[in-house]
Amino acid sequence: MKKDTQCVHSGTLADPKTRGVNTPIFTSSVFEYLGMPENVYPRYFNTPNQKAIIEKLCTLENAENGLVFSSGMAAISTAIFSFLQSGDHVILQRDIYGGTHHFASAEFERFGIKHSFVSNKATDIERAIQPNTKIIYIESPSNPLLLITDIEAVAQVAKSRKIMTVIDNTFATPINQNPLDLGIDIVVHSGTKYIGGHSDICCGVALASDELIATIKKSAANFGGSLNAFTCYLVERSLKTLAIRVAKQNANAHTIARHLETNVNIERVYYPGLETHADYEVAAKQMKDFGGMLSFELKGQRVESPRFLNKLELIKPALSLGGVETIICSPAQTSHLKMSDDDRADLGITDHLLRLSVGIEDPDDLIADIENALE
Ligand SMILES: Cc1ncc(COP(=O)(O)O)c(C=O)c1O
Repeated sequence: MKKDTQCVHSGTLADPKTRGVNTPIFTSSVFEYLGMPENVYPRYFNTPNQKAIIEKLCTLENAENGLVFSSGMAAISTAIFSFLQSGDHVILQRDIYGGTHHFASAEFERFGIKHSFVSNKATDIERAIQPNTKIIYIESPSNPLLLITDIEAVAQVAKSRKIMTVIDNTFATPINQNPLDLGIDIVVHSGTKYIGGHSDICCGVALASDELIATIKKSAANFGGSLNAFTCYLVERSLKTLAIRVAKQNANAHTIARHLETNVNIERVYYPGLETHADYEVAAKQMKDFGGMLSFELKGQRVESPRFLNKLELIKPALSLGGVETIICSPAQTSHLKMSDDDRADLGITDHLLRLSVGIEDPDDLIADIENALE
């Protein structure tokens, strides 16, 4: 089946009694165990509603198995910690979501885990490998500068050294990019973003081989970040329109990025679908389309970022991303707030940088709102 069809049909646990076409919400947190192949319990990641969305997500990401968590950070932290012990070393791409950057900086050291932040170039990643390196963690496109990592190149480096790879595929979505096909071991998503898609869900996902998921599952039951049946149901409902939403978001973002490039008040536009993007060729090679996220730098001497944000009428300055409504944020004040000023400066995250999460509205209305605020 093609992605649009998979979104609608895969994983549905249709109820044979009522013949309703949707998965029912199984409200039980208590399940009888006699005669059952396994003990069912929400924190064991095996309730019917959890399994239904995992099946859909596995189909979409070409994964054997997966786990659905209560947040993206629960998925990321659990997946990573499941494989680490004191004395290990982790390489992380330095341009990643600020929360993940902070997670590594704040948590690893006290468990005796060393880490290095490096550029997203496979050669730099390879140079940072130590005898005790266990995991290479990347994000592509990256938050917030839409850097593109050559996923296949990193996977090859890691495989040749028997190091596990994890990628945050949140920005791309399983519609635009399938990293497991490119040799990555574990894919994580903040499902709070495109998978949820309506700015009303917090969840996370980890997808991988049966073997790796079995290991993560053991730790996940201890860490306890599972997802409840009602939210699972909302996720399943959201996933039915994932492909159609993302297609519109891809198209809108492309149109807006092209338009912003021509505006005299804008210094620079970051969008992997623009031929001017430094890694356009790599993006075109590994992505089916370029996503709904873009960033741009205002010309600071002409436009003040807070005044611009205040003048927008349709587009709301708001945290998070991936919903049907277009929102905008200053990464320096939101997603990357906890990063030190020096680290932000090193990465090129300035106070004039704004990140746009493009929704499914008509692009003409979005462009008019931006133009009006810039004027
Ligand atoms: C790329 C990316 N990964 C992970 C996360 C963390 O997800 P959550 O907020 O669902 O824990 C975020 C949140 O903004 C994100 O943007």
